[in-house]
Amino acid sequence: MKNPKHLELEISDRIPDAAKDEAVAVCVFKDEKVEAQDEGIKRACEQIAESGEFKGEAETLLLFHAPDGKGARRLLLLGLGARADFDLSVLRRAAGMVVRQARATHIKRLALLLPRADDPQATTRAASEGATLGLYENDFYQHHEDEQTELERFAIITSAASDELRLAAERGRMVAESVNWARELSDEPGKTLPPREFARRAAEMAEEFGLKVESLSAEEIQSRGMGGLWGVGKGSDELPALIVIRYEPDEARDQNELWAFVGKGITFDTGGISIKHGLDMYEMKADMAGGAAVLGAMRAIAQLKPQRRVVGIVPAAENMPSGRSIKPGDVVRTLAGFNVEVADTDAEGRLVLIDGIAYARQLGATRIVDLATLTGSIIVALGNARAGLFSNDDEWAARVLKAAERAGEPAWRMPASDDYKKRIESDVADFKNYGGRPDATAAALLLSKFAADVPWVHLDIAGTSWYDDPQPHAPKGSTGAGVRTLVELTCG
Ligand code: BES
Ligand code: MN
Ligand code: ZN
Repeated sequence: MKNPKHLELEISDRIPDAAKDEAVAVCVFKDEKVEAQDEGIKRACEQIAESGEFKGEAETLLLFHAPDGKGARRLLLLGLGARADFDLSVLRRAAGMVVRQARATHIKRLALLLPRADDPQATTRAASEGATLGLYENDFYQHHEDEQTELERFAIITSAASDELRLAAERGRMVAESVNWARELSDEPGKTLPPREFARRAAEMAEEFGLKVESLSAEEIQSRGMGGLWGVGKGSDELPALIVIRYEPDEARDQNELWAFVGKGITFDTGGISIKHGLDMYEMKADMAGGAAVLGAMRAIAQLKPQRRVVGIVPAAENMPSGRSIKPGDVVRTLAGFNVEVADTDAEGRLVLIDGIAYARQLGATRIVDLATLTGSIIVALGNARAGLFSNDDEWAARVLKAAERAGEPAWRMPASDDYKKRIESDVADFKNYGGRPDATAAALLLSKFAADVPWVHLDIAGTSWYDDPQPHAPKGSTGAGVRTLVELTCG
């Protein structure tokens, strides 16, 4: 894999000479004078600003070779937009963008001068998080003519470097590495990441970071009565699996408390017998993004070591049409005991999640968050900028919303109330899995019946987990949405 696993981070209050020999990035607000501790650099930036060639608009960047005596060999002007609109999300994206630019222009050492900030710790963390996210590439199968040089060192320059800031930067880097790890899984084709391979990768990661892991086999899934997961998985030659990964600190504050994160793990979604049309079906290789995000969050949690027990549960299956597939009209008996009519085999996510949620309750979960690329309808409602958040508990919903906001992954609360229940009422069974539009709410309402009295939040990340186009700070493809929210919620 080409992604550098590690970026050498440096926090300093002066620009290292090695960076001056190569490249220095300077943040520019469109409505403020350029600030840079180095007079030569400052003057060079001012000249460009005066020429009107660079206005400091957000998501813009200008690279130029500075003449001798201007403090650095190359300067990168990094637009941050208006000061009043500035927040950590702007900085994360800008840091990602400058790292992508540096890599494209074969820069090995780069220094970023941070803008003045009220909370230097959060700012430093966001810069290192954004920079690390900017390293991500998903052209795994592409040949490149020239060997790409990698960015090796990244220096964050602040007015006063301290150990707290170094720690903040490390934390940002580590969380972003877990996000990138989840993105790699999501972007991987269905061919190389079927359910049992997904489980093997989870086990490999768990081993590396000291987590406990087990996965239930197809036989166990059947014998325990997980008819939803088995119903979806049985049509494929690739057997389903239920991945269970645990973080159990000795000194948990409350041994009775157990948070469960449940992630949809459909390694490829053809729709099954209710087959999808071909257009963009390839994106369904990322229909396990929720599961990958749960595993990515566990990877970060294992390193941050909060004092709270957490279990990650990923029901994994491939949704395929075959002679063994579940058919529209079939009824499955789920782990919770409810019978569910399968009105549409393409509404498979909720079928595997209801068994995942029921399993979380069996394990004694006291709070649940599930993450899923569940519906096209949430994309219609909210687009790519916000995840849909559904909940049966206002207090838990507020906590997750706040964590999501702080993590820079905003969510928007939507209803999952009984006034939509007609859509999940079946003529022949306890519930049905599909009843027409609007579907994101109906899907969430069905899940809520399985969470029952346990405080539960469902994040529909179908829109936020995927960039339809290349971004200044990221390639087209998986975003790793949800990892940072879960980490912020658990460790923030
Ligand atoms: N995995 C899809 C939802 C999805 C669509 C995710 C587009 C990302 C991008 C899900 O399993 C699905 O097929 N949902 C259907 C449900 C419908 C057929 C009841 C949908 O939303 O169209
Ligand atoms: Mn589907
Ligand atoms: Zn799906």
